[in-house]
Amino acid sequence: MSGSFRISRLLPSDAEAFRTIRLAALRTAPDAFGSTYEIEAARPVSAFADGLSASVVFGAYDDRRIVGMAGLKREAGPKVSHKAFIWGFYVEPAWQGRGAGSALVAALIEAAQDVVEQLTLTVVEGNDAAIALYTKFGFTAYGVEPRALKTLAGYVNEVLMALRLPSGAAEQPKAT
Ligand SMILES: CC(C)(COP(=O)(O)OP(=O)(O)OC[C@H]1O[C@@H](n2cnc3c(N)ncnc32)[C@H](O)[C@@H]1OP(=O)(O)O)[C@@H](O)C(=O)NCCC(=O)NCCS
Repeated sequence: MSGSFRISRLLPSDAEAFRTIRLAALRTAPDAFGSTYEIEAARPVSAFADGLSASVVFGAYDDRRIVGMAGLKREAGPKVSHKAFIWGFYVEPAWQGRGAGSALVAALIEAAQDVVEQLTLTVVEGNDAAIALYTKFGFTAYGVEPRALKTLAGYVNEVLMALRLPSGAAEQPKAT
């Protein structure tokens, strides 16, 4: 089943909507993310605006409101800036399974084309829906970090995944 939604890039002026969906993600799927609701709920809206300046973030909207998000952040530094990592991928439960997640990942990949050469991400071991979705887009698992997260319920392993982009970035590393 597909839904009627649109994907658009969130700008710093969309900080309120970003805060809404980010906090919903942390509250609804706490096991899927490294951060916590308590930490981010205490942050001012300006911190969310700053986050939107530092990352490329796409939102999925139904007619009225934001129902999903996914972020992309380029690594900083001459030897790693050919890579970017995906973070904060979330779709509200009522919208899951309708293609919003796939549309968000497709938007991230398109935005990354010709800017970076490789996308990376981490996903909690056992999150089969997310792993299946990433695999559908060509991501492959290259390892597992044992005890990557420590929660009140115990340690959690994370699967490390990567996708080589076909065209890659034209930039060469700068001589130092
Ligand atoms: C992961 C998540 C964002 C996917 O969003 P979504 O809108 O449901 O995704 P889509 O409907 O576009 O994609 C569905 C794809 O995901 C996979 N998928 C979805 N549900 C699945 C399930 N229960 N089991 C296996 N694969 C599943 C399939 O590959 C499917 O592709 P297909 O429709 O071609 O078969 C959503 O499940 C979510 O928000 N989960 C909680 C937060 C989370 O786990 N985030 C990932 C952090 S790394």
